[in-house]
Amino acid sequence: MADARKNLILEATGLNKSFGAVTAAKDINIAVERDSFVGLIGTNGAGKTTFINMVTGYLKPDTGTIVYDGRDITPLQPRDITRLGICRSFQIPQLYNSLTVFENMMVGLAVVLHNAGRGGFFSSGEPIVPGRDKSLHAVAEEILASFDLTSYRGRSAQVLPGGVRKLLDIALTMVAAPKILLLDEPTSGVSSEEKFGIMEMVMKVVKDAGATVLFVEHDMEVVSRFAQRVIAFADGQVICDAPPEVALVDPDVLRFVVGSQRA
Ligand SMILES: Nc1ncnc2c1ncn2[C@@H]1O[C@H](COP(=O)(O)OP(=O)(O)OP(=O)(O)O)[C@@H](O)[C@H]1O
Ligand SMILES: [Mg+2]
Repeated sequence: MADARKNLILEATGLNKSFGAVTAAKDINIAVERDSFVGLIGTNGAGKTTFINMVTGYLKPDTGTIVYDGRDITPLQPRDITRLGICRSFQIPQLYNSLTVFENMMVGLAVVLHNAGRGGFFSSGEPIVPGRDKSLHAVAEEILASFDLTSYRGRSAQVLPGGVRKLLDIALTMVAAPKILLLDEPTSGVSSEEKFGIMEMVMKVVKDAGATVLFVEHDMEVVSRFAQRVIAFADGQVICDAPPEVALVDPDVLRFVVGSQRA
């Protein structure tokens, strides 16, 4: 039991969150093991993003606690939570459209540097990215290469194909060297063929980086192929938490999630 707990990287206990009459989270209890790849499913308004918002500090639960790596992070601000290694993407890619792919990476890294509030400089005068002992340029190039985005580096973000936009948005979540990545619909708005490519890339990069991933996904083919574990939300509650082969045939999941999915 003690060993099992040690392997937990995230433990959300008794989370509740209401917006007026709407209950967006009702007694959510989720424990996530290190290095796992977890799919979050549920229809529109089920509470998936609310859960991500609470874990990342963008929303405070009305009650409940969130423990990350043995530390209570419930009261912390998003910036401090990011600094500890919990990073996220948003449902809508947060890119600077007028900047190039490379410049977007550099802005992301500059924010990391700013949040760290410390760090040194190389003799060239370039700042060192904390924890990586490399220059901003070197880290930006490295992350772009890991996502096969190098050939797009000089392109303006606004003219990128949809799948590349999504990949760049995910690549930007890696700037802070996350230990947990929360990806809110990483494959939305792209073709079915592209979804698999994006997820394969994410799995490869995240495995190399030793991070744990929670991803929101509406496409059950993607979920069954990539998730090791599925957490299904309905009306702010977790209605199923099981491996995909169990969760995706669970009667409640079929009724409240799969059967009522948006197109
Ligand atoms: N800031 C907010 N203010 C008021 N209501 C909110 C707020 N955020 C979420 N809600 C409500 O909480 C419920 C859960 O929303 P949430 O965004 O978590 O759903 P979701 O599962 O991410 O849905 P989707 O698949 O559409 O992204 C919804 O009824 C939503 O309208
Ligand atoms: Mg959402």
